[in-house]
Amino acid sequence: MQYSEKVMEHFANPHNVGEIPDANGVGEIGNAKCGDIMKMFLKIENDIIVDVKFKTYGCASAIATSSIATDMIKGQPISEALKLTNKAVVEALDGLPAVKIHCSVLAEQAIKAALADYYKRQGIDPEPIVGKIEEHDHDACHI
Ligand code: FES
Repeated sequence: MQYSEKVMEHFANPHNVGEIPDANGVGEIGNAKCGDIMKMFLKIENDIIVDVKFKTYGCASAIATSSIATDMIKGQPISEALKLTNKAVVEALDGLPAVKIHCSVLAEQAIKAALADYYKRQGIDPEPIVGKIEEHDHDACHI
């Protein structure tokens, strides 16, 4: 399987790994089938994502996509983070092998889950803003 240099770089030295103890939005996406879990921590102030960190048991592609996805939303307003697609993340990594595209969805979905949690904590229904959080199809990752 051929990974781009950027994927290897982000996998070997992932950015924004860890936890934020005083995060005000936390999202976890997981799947029992492949055991991969992605946990996303957001610190939001005045609608700006001032800090973001993630923890994952995911594969190399999941780590690389989370690393670059968190870089892309750090310092950005919530509206920009909501626009982040796994396609944009994959492009920023100079592509992923076709069978690994599905893994990139984990980062996008974990960010959305964390944003949903942020709204829920304020008593706001997140679904009209964030949309439905879909289950990640891990079966496609293990080919
Ligand atoms: Fe499940 Fe890639 S995230 S194998």
